Amino acid sequence: MIETLHSLYKKKHNIVLKTQKQIEGIRQASKIAAKILNLLCKEVKPGITTKELDRLSKELHKMFSAIPASLGYGDPPFPGSICTSINDVICHGIPDDRPLNEGDIVNIDVASIVDGYYGDLSRTVVVGSSTADALRVVGASYESLKAAIQICRPGVKISQIGAAIQLVANATGCSVVHQFVGHGIGCMFHEEPPILHYANKPKVDIVMQPGMTFTIEPMLNLGSPEAVIDKRDHWTARTIDGMLSAQFEHTLLITPTGHEILTLIDAKDAYPGVPELFINQKEL
Ligand code: MF3
Ligand code: CO
Repeated sequence: MIETLHSLYKKKHNIVLKTQKQIEGIRQASKIAAKILNLLCKEVKPGITTKELDRLSKELHKMFSAIPASLGYGDPPFPGSICTSINDVICHGIPDDRPLNEGDIVNIDVASIVDGYYGDLSRTVVVGSSTADALRVVGASYESLKAAIQICRPGVKISQIGAAIQLVANATGCSVVHQFVGHGIGCMFHEEPPILHYANKPKVDIVMQPGMTFTIEPMLNLGSPEAVIDKRDHWTARTIDGMLSAQFEHTLLITPTGHEILTLIDAKDAYPGVPELFINQKEL
């Protein structure tokens, strides 16, 4: 989501701590979004177009009695049921007729509404075999999400998420995009608080509490962190220097003892290549 939410830091916070019933709803929506993303990623291969993935996403949403949250979202209304962001596209790429090429990297972002509750996640997939540059930026963004999730538990300040991501970015020589942030989620698509992905010292730091649900969705670039939004479609965000960008995203719940990643798939649905961080390890 776009950084205008930064301004919310200046206002009174309105973070919804979820009830058991809401948590159950968000868990279901998140699970279904994860299943859909998993099935879409399985279809990624040279020659497929992102429009075809979008069509499949619409069918899968119907199958699971879910609504794609992205479709028609915002102003101008987002035209796809998923975001498909290829190579130098940082986020909010619009599905189109261009076939994917060997060596491309593509982020697929699925947000689903089920019974009025929201779940949101994304993965970056390499098409065919990868280049060293692709591996570095995809690996760095994956590790940065993992590091950020690991620190999440009651009592930890929200700014520690950005700190954890920044450490991985610095160690891998990647930059962190500032212009897009993670967000509270659950009863709405975008709730408070905004989740900054870079090292920051907010005036008021929010402390994690049981019942908070939010996304972490770091975007890491090989070159400049700067994003430029397409003047024609008003959505597609690209790196200013044309260099690669990668992103991974999960929806999290803060529990009394730590956290639960809500956007996991069942182990039985995993296929070779599904990153560990996206599989429910408890079932293994
Ligand atoms: N995960 C992204 C976000 O939270 C998905 C946006 S989809 C949009 O901003 F196209 F609807 F914006
Ligand atoms: Co999101």
